[in-house]
Amino acid sequence: MDKKTNQLTSPLTLRRGRRNKKIRDLLSTTFIPTSSLIQPYFIYQGLKNSEELGSIAGQKKHTLHSVIKEIEYALTKKVSSFLLFIVPEQSKKIASSNISDFHFDFDAETIRQIKNTFKDDIVLFTDLCLCSNTADGHCQVANDNDLTVKILSKKALIYASAGADVISPSDMMDGRIKSIRNNLDLNGYNDRSIMSYSSKFSSNFYGPFRAAAESTPSHGDRKSYQLDPRNVGDAVRSSLRDIEEGADILMVKPATLYLDIIYRIKNHQVSKDFPLAAYQVSGEYQSLHLMAKENLLNFDDAYLESLYSIRRAGADLIITYGATNGATNV
Ligand code: PBG
Repeated sequence: MDKKTNQLTSPLTLRRGRRNKKIRDLLSTTFIPTSSLIQPYFIYQGLKNSEELGSIAGQKKHTLHSVIKEIEYALTKKVSSFLLFIVPEQSKKIASSNISDFHFDFDAETIRQIKNTFKDDIVLFTDLCLCSNTADGHCQVANDNDLTVKILSKKALIYASAGADVISPSDMMDGRIKSIRNNLDLNGYNDRSIMSYSSKFSSNFYGPFRAAAESTPSHGDRKSYQLDPRNVGDAVRSSLRDIEEGADILMVKPATLYLDIIYRIKNHQVSKDFPLAAYQVSGEYQSLHLMAKENLLNFDDAYLESLYSIRRAGADLIITYGATNGATNV
């Protein structure tokens, strides 16, 4: 301040709040509790030893034994929520659309053993879909929405009775949340939650996952059941519909490419008080790794920044392949 003229001698600076790390930490408003992170795992039937997944950095094709070891490690990092993708052997893939041909014994055994080992020290989410069961890699059978929902409801009940805490349908059929909720309630599992992949877009960024889950469709695409990236209203309505049908947790997927959708759902009058998860998908995660490999960025820093953006947009929970790698450190 100039004493004679009472004028500012230098412009007011916002840089005061950025001067050093302690001040920046003091003023930061975005936090990622470790308890809000969900780590996905892929478990393969018929595998003798775990192996690198290849398409998603740091991820493995797990056996039951190796996933139990991995969960023990995750718990030491204070991560205690896990999302399982259970992949049957190639010979078990089903070409028919007959509901009685679908058996999920390997899934049930896997879930039971994990839950028996860790009990309520973990929250076990199980992805629910048919894309790794069907011979053509589609999430639906015979182009039939309602038949697919019936099979999914049967699978959901098997998952719940094996001990799954949160059934997580990723198929995008119409009416599946209602049907699954009813089937669980009628059979005494009204204590199990449903996390709906409520706004799941038809995205190019699932590529590395599909390579891993052996679920690339052998013909056509998923555009008639997954959301069109250009249609905002459909994404919002789809979440509202799933709330009405009984979803406990909503989800936006992918995450960083759809921050606007996360923001809208988190601020919508009807959905704002529902827990909202965001799935940082394989392509979003792997792109950071590929850039880091080319020395174009530092992985840990860029990864953390990507998680902050998801959190800032309004996600309560984040499903991310790096949950247990310690980069978040918060
Ligand atoms: C399908 C499913 C997909 C993912 C999880 N479950 C995508 C798809 O193939 O349509 C994607 C996860 C990722 O890319 O990380 N049931």
